[in-house]
Amino acid sequence: MKQVTPREAFNKIKPESVAFVLSIDEADKPSGMIVAWQTKLSNDPPLFGVAISKKKYTHKLITSSKEFVVVLPGKDLEEELKVFGSVSGRDVDKFEGTGIKTEPAKHIKTPLLADAVVNFECRLHEIVETGDHDLFIGEILTSYINKDKKILFNIEKNGDNRTYGEF
Ligand SMILES: Cc1cc2nc3c(=O)[nH]c(=O)nc-3n(C[C@H](O)[C@H](O)[C@H](O)COP(=O)(O)O)c2cc1C
Repeated sequence: MKQVTPREAFNKIKPESVAFVLSIDEADKPSGMIVAWQTKLSNDPPLFGVAISKKKYTHKLITSSKEFVVVLPGKDLEEELKVFGSVSGRDVDKFEGTGIKTEPAKHIKTPLLADAVVNFECRLHEIVETGDHDLFIGEILTSYINKDKKILFNIEKNGDNRTYGEF
């Protein structure tokens, strides 16, 4: 076998599902980003984890608001995904810019995405400091699905170019 860096080996783990992670600022204004580093962690209590770089604006938002929404998109949110995954909420209002459709959550102020395949409404349970990324663990308060839609996966990454497909 060929020895490579962990980063090169990580990149080989494809396809991978991608998720929007949304939260709010002090004025309850929503913003968010895309993560591929995300996982179910527990059924009871229901926990979901996302790994977010310390540099990201969303890291700061969740640390202070203590709430977030995890959204698994389908192909119809691919264009919005490209915006949420490439520009920072420090510079751009991604919700206004994309006109992405939202719905109110039940227990938190962060909105859900209306056209998602899955929405998890989460209260921050714990932040595990890991390294250049931190693991944000959310307790799922409510989960929602659009049962006829399929989940979008990142199939390949070549430099900054990614290709996506539904499964
Ligand atoms: C497919 C894809 C997967 C990504 N996965 C992660 C991830 O797991 N963790 C992370 O910190 N950033 C990840 N990013 C990068 C952030 O989504 C991106 O830098 C975003 O613009 C950060 O926005 P913010 O500064 O408003 O929080 C990913 C981007 C894409 C396109």
